[in-house]
Amino acid sequence: MQNISCNYNNIQNQYTYNVKIKGNYLNHNNPTFKGHAYYEFVREGFTRKTLPIQETAFFRQFSGLKFIREYAEKTFQDRDKIRILDGACSTGEESWSLAMLFDNFPKMVEITGFDLGKKAIAKAKKGVFHIYKIEPKNPSITFETLRNGEAYKDLYLAFKSVNELSTQQALCQKLFNTFFDKVPPQKEKMLFKQRISRFILEKFALNIETKSYRVKPEKADVCNFIQGDIRKLDELVKDGDVDIFLFRNALYHLMTESLSASRRLLKTEKEAEQILGNVFESIYRKLSKNGIFVLGNDETLQALDCELIQKVLSEKGFIPIFKDNKNFASVWQKTSSDLK
Ligand SMILES: C[S@@+](CC[C@H](N)C(=O)[O-])C[C@H]1O[C@@H](n2cnc3c(N)ncnc32)[C@H](O)[C@@H]1O
Repeated sequence: MQNISCNYNNIQNQYTYNVKIKGNYLNHNNPTFKGHAYYEFVREGFTRKTLPIQETAFFRQFSGLKFIREYAEKTFQDRDKIRILDGACSTGEESWSLAMLFDNFPKMVEITGFDLGKKAIAKAKKGVFHIYKIEPKNPSITFETLRNGEAYKDLYLAFKSVNELSTQQALCQKLFNTFFDKVPPQKEKMLFKQRISRFILEKFALNIETKSYRVKPEKADVCNFIQGDIRKLDELVKDGDVDIFLFRNALYHLMTESLSASRRLLKTEKEAEQILGNVFESIYRKLSKNGIFVLGNDETLQALDCELIQKVLSEKGFIPIFKDNKNFASVWQKTSSDLK
């Protein structure tokens, strides 16, 4: 599996290669995408499109989340409350991870997650989450997607004991147990095609163990979820009303003609620049003084050029303040103080 570089001109070829070798559409029916990652249909105008990748995990890309908490503590001391808007929250794990990390924060914290996917938001609202342990039936068989899939990233929360964990994982597990109760395994809704592929995988290739969790009733109000589109932020929030705005691991959705991964048609660089410019400009308006915009630790995958993202962010008045990877800054601060 080759790495996808940041060179925009080459990306079409490299991406085709990626799809063929690793097979994104294969992943969609693959339990490593955690069940909640299956695609759903969305409407755009009169057309019906698929919104395929809702992959996420608790405490995903932890360093970025940890930075947010530290930044808020240092910067927003004079505020009565901190307002977090978690764009592309998928099924809610990211918003709940923030809620857990902001537990015991000295100020009131308001967390709202939004996503274009109606079903993803319905799941987020339900507050029930499934964590999977997946192993090949035959240990000599290795699955590239199983070892690298993001789906494995929060497996330790449910399947490991404290003495097997790093300090950071132990902290996350403790927070997780404060927020979630284990409940009997819940049946997940799946499309017929998904059920068949899952059945075949389980029968012949994989052992899958599921543990289900529900948000504790006393924590249920900490996060709020709504359906929304990053391209229509005025419908969601007033200017200057957000202190921390996340849109992690989702920019690539804006770069395709179709929302479907198996029919990716890339925009030209000029079109991409325009789209990014519009989105970043509106995020800038929504942010309060010293507000921050948070991307994924690495947004270079899925046919996006990390240089282009950073160039447009700088042009729109953001300055980089945190990077977990030397080529890409994931946290950007609003420079001017023209808004409240
Ligand atoms: C790979 S998930 C990222 C989830 C989470 N942010 C994370 O990093 O784990 C991408 C999400 O972007 C959402 N999405 C795609 N286009 C969107 C848009 N225009 N506005 C809001 N959400 C969108 C998809 O529905 C999907 O849930």
